Parts: sequence; structure tokens; C-alpha cells
Amino acid sequence: MATSSPMHLSLETNHKTVTQPITIQTPTSGSNLTPPVTPIGKENDPKNALPDLLIGANPAETSALVKRNVCTPLNFTDELEICSDAEERPIEFGRGAWSIVYKARSRPSATIAAIAINTPPSSPTATTRVYAMKSPVRRDARPVLQAEALALTRLNFLPGYERYVVPFHGYHTPTESLVMSAVPLALSTYIEDQADIMRKRGPSTATMFDPVQGTEAWKNLAFKLISGLEWLHKTAGIIHGDIKPHNLLLRPLFSDDELSASTDTFPYEPLFADFSSALDISPENGRDTTQASMSAFTPPFTAPELLSLASLKSGDVDPTPASDVFSLAATLVAAATGDLLLYPGSSNMQRLAMARDGQRILEFTRCGSNGSRVPRNGFVEKLIQPAIAKDPALRIDTSEWVMLANA
Ligand SMILES: Nc1ncnc2c1ncn2[C@@H]1O[C@H](COP(=O)(O)OP(=O)(O)O)[C@@H](O)[C@H]1O
Ligand SMILES: [Mg+2]
Repeated sequence: MATSSPMHLSLETNHKTVTQPITIQTPTSGSNLTPPVTPIGKENDPKNALPDLLIGANPAETSALVKRNVCTPLNFTDELEICSDAEERPIEFGRGAWSIVYKARSRPSATIAAIAINTPPSSPTATTRVYAMKSPVRRDARPVLQAEALALTRLNFLPGYERYVVPFHGYHTPTESLVMSAVPLALSTYIEDQADIMRKRGPSTATMFDPVQGTEAWKNLAFKLISGLEWLHKTAGIIHGDIKPHNLLLRPLFSDDELSASTDTFPYEPLFADFSSALDISPENGRDTTQASMSAFTPPFTAPELLSLASLKSGDVDPTPASDVFSLAATLVAAATGDLLLYPGSSNMQRLAMARDGQRILEFTRCGSNGSRVPRNGFVEKLIQPAIAKDPALRIDTSEWVMLANA
């Protein structure tokens, strides 16, 4: 284990520089890298917090150094206020197994205001920002959210983070909440909206063999998501553990006016969110036991090997890179058909049974009312089939998968 030598780093929260209690650990004695001894220079960019260590490191080294050196989550120190609607009810962006995600507004904390006493007061609009605030709904959610805060803090340090992961602003201790940028459209909502649009248009022989959002939009979504997964596995060294449409957020690439004019590509940047089931990929050490050992199971997006009676009995149910690949493939099938449940009309028990046979997902989907959207030998099948092999060892690797999606 590395020796601990706590020091303070200046990191940005809410576009204001504050000193954060980030614990920096010196690398193990075997390492010839020098830990940073002074607080970061360019204080507004968290990626500058470990400059000496990270210069010249390849992606795998970078993530290992960050994991070893960043041991406590970034803190969010401004005050937060949950936004309410006209009837004084708190506004929610969404809910999940662990949390409610509220729309919240920030105000600089009294301490920060006191530090800034010599600077001229800024206008209220400049200091108030809107955030998504993920608050625990159960007592046992607290350690899970703390582990998620650490995972998101580490991701913050890695090049490419902004393109693939929901922006994280810190852990807000008074409310035990995670503070993120608000990205109010989940892929699940988008899929339902697209399916609704198709239903309203009525059946069309011209489009019935295409994904609900159109061929080019689906292909572009697939490429972006697969590239994001490749980044998570290979650059960040992290397994997401619960990939499904509800845990992916869509950041618009265009304004509303421009959006209606763009028809051929997918006009959003899909961002991975909800790292509550995330695990480090640590080949040398096996499983990282400091992480909250909570995996989420969301059949039919969960890989079949994690749902088998044998693995459930043995407790050997940790997600793997290959199980992430399966979950993303299932997500892309749902996006193509517009059926968020994948197998609509079946009972929960039937769905679980089908999920245990997940390698047959395309076959099952074809029996459903939108089965025509994933035709045999079509491009959806070509991209999905290699990612859903029953044996996880035979599933496509993300690097190859990115090339296939780009072909
Ligand atoms: N940054 C965000 N901005 C807007 N909505 C969000 C954000 N993060 C999560 N949500 C919404 O809240 C829901 C629950 O959040 P999630 O992180 O998945 O929590 P859980 O771990 O409890 O499943 C998501 O499905 C999504 O709809
Ligand atoms: Mg979730």
C-alpha cells in the first residue's frame, strides 16, 4: 500500500478556486516518480492538480497514478438550495435505486464570501448556478454515493473526461450529496420520445426496418457510446457496472433551433452517469476492496453471466469489462427498437429468464412488435452480435468494437 502524506490541492468548485482536502499519497517506494510538493499552479483546471506526475504518462499510467494519489473526493463548498416548482414542490431530474436527483441552485458559502471580502461584489446572476444534486434516499446509500464521488473525482483528472462523463463539481457534505452539472435528458427519455414520435406517425414501410431515430442517428449514437466505453475501460481503467439508458445523459450539441434542422447525425453527446456500481480494473491487485461492493442488477441490461444462479449463489457477481460491453449492446438494441424494457409485454419473471439467456437478445427482440427494426444481417445485428456472446471471453473488445462502429 502507498504511504499517506496528506496535502492540500486547490481545485475548482463552482468556478471558484478553493482549497480542497484532497489527500495526496506518495507513490510506493518502487516508483521513481516525484509527487507534487506545491499546490497546483493553474488553479482553475483540476487536471493541473497532478502535473508533475502525469507529464508523459500513457493513459494506463495516468489512471493508475490518479487512483493511487487521489484518495478523497473533491468537496463542493458553496451552499445549495433545492429549486421548487410553483406549488413549492422540489423539482426532481430523476430517481434511481439509491438516490433522488434534484435541480438545485448554489450560493457561495459564508466562508468563501468572507475570503472574497476584498474583491468587489459580483452580480447575483454571476454567482448563482444550476446543478443536479444527487441525494441519498436510503441510509445504506451514503457509502455508495461517497464511493461514487471518489470515482468521479478521479475521472475528473483524466484527459477526455469532458466528452464522456457527466461533469462533477464535488461532494456536498452537509447534504451528503453529489453535485453535478445539470444534464436533464436521459437516453431512456429520448428513446421513449422517439418511439412516441414513430407511433404518432403511424406504420411506414419506408422506415419499419430502421432504428426508431433513423439509421444515421443510431449509428452515430452507437459510435459515440462505444468510444465512451473504450475510454472508460482503457483510459480511465474503470468498469461502469450498470450501463442502461437511464444512466446515460444526453448533452445537446446544438441550440433548439439548430436541432430541428439537423436530421442525419445524433445531435447529442452521450455522457456516462451513475458510477454507483463502478469498479476499478486492477489486473495486478484483483478487486479493489476499498470500493463500495454494491452492484446494481437491471435485467435485461445485465449480462447473463451475472444473473446465473451459480454466480448469484457464489456471490461472484462483480461486473467486468465484458459485462459492460453486453450492457451497452443491450442499451443499443433498446435504442433501435424504442422498447425501453427490451421485451415489452413479458412479466418480470419472464424478462429475468430471457435476460439469463441474453445472448439471444436479438432473437427475442425480433418476436416483439418492433422486431423489424433489427433485421437479420442488418447493420444493427452486425454491431450487436459480437458484443453479446454468451461466453464473456468471446465478446468483442472495445477497441475492435469502436472500429466496427466506425466502419
Ligand atoms: N447530472 C444530472 N442531470 C440531470 N439529471 C440527472 C443527472 N444525474 C442523474 N440524473 C437523473 O436522475 C436519475 C437517477 O440518477 P442516478 O445517478 O442514476 O441515480 P441512482 O444511482 O440512484 O440510480 C437518472 O436516471 C437521471 O434521469
Ligand atoms: Mg441510476
